[in-house]
Amino acid sequence: MKKVFIATTTFGNDDPTILSLLIKEGVEYTLNPFERRLNETEIKDVLSKGIYDGLLAGLEPLTKDVLFQAKGLKVISRVGVGLDNVDQSAAGARNILIFNTPGVLTDAVAELTLGLMLAALRKVSFLDRKMHTGQWEKVSGALLKGKLVGLIGFGHIGQRVATLVKAFGAEVLFFDVCKTNSLDAQQVELEQLIRTADIISLHSSGKECLIEANEISQMKQGVIIVNTARGILIDEGALAQGLSSGKVGCAALDVFTQEPYQGPLLKFDNVIMTPHIGSSAKEARIMMEKMAVENLLKGLKG
Ligand code: GLV
Repeated sequence: MKKVFIATTTFGNDDPTILSLLIKEGVEYTLNPFERRLNETEIKDVLSKGIYDGLLAGLEPLTKDVLFQAKGLKVISRVGVGLDNVDQSAAGARNILIFNTPGVLTDAVAELTLGLMLAALRKVSFLDRKMHTGQWEKVSGALLKGKLVGLIGFGHIGQRVATLVKAFGAEVLFFDVCKTNSLDAQQVELEQLIRTADIISLHSSGKECLIEANEISQMKQGVIIVNTARGILIDEGALAQGLSSGKVGCAALDVFTQEPYQGPLLKFDNVIMTPHIGSSAKEARIMMEKMAVENLLKGLKG
């Protein structure tokens, strides 16, 4: 009987029948007993016992060290799209197959992005916090209509965000390392996007930091920055300075360099934060989990 460790903490919550797919295929599973993201030592400990043939993976660090100790592991099936937590060359060297679930979380992340933009523009979180403390105070926000939205990364999610914001009457510019033709938006250099956009939203893979103090200094006064991609893309210290000086009007962040996040951005009223829930819409979770199980079973069958 094949054995699988399920590292994501919410697996099966939206549709428990997905777990029975594994049982039907004769696969025994263990749920993550920590009920939170495992750190490197913890996942190494789990995988080095040589019990598991497969891993339904979240965003725990699957480093070279972890993968070289993961005795008997044959398949990593990411429940999600990003593979920045997986050392792919180490997996290749160990003949571990890697799968992910592209496409199925596009709408979920794009809709969250739009929600964060609107919440930032109309100061929803700030006013909500006030009302919860008994304060009835009106503050003007601004429209999305007529704004210039700069998208950094123009893959499936970036393109979907472009379509959504254009429906609100916003203009779109995008930067992407690949040359991309788009009817919806104009491709520009990163520097032009940074200098001209009213709202900057990140949708690139999390390889390197793109927004540091220098980039923030070139942005429009009061710019809104939205990040639903990866925390590493923004230097959080530089962002905190930009927020303090008023250069950045609002940051809406779903992702952080350290998750769970406990850092200094918590103290800013003009920062909206969500706990990495880009894909956490039940329709998307169900599709992702089904696809991840199908990928896993395919991989285990070789
Ligand atoms: C979520 O962040 C993912 O990569 O799927």
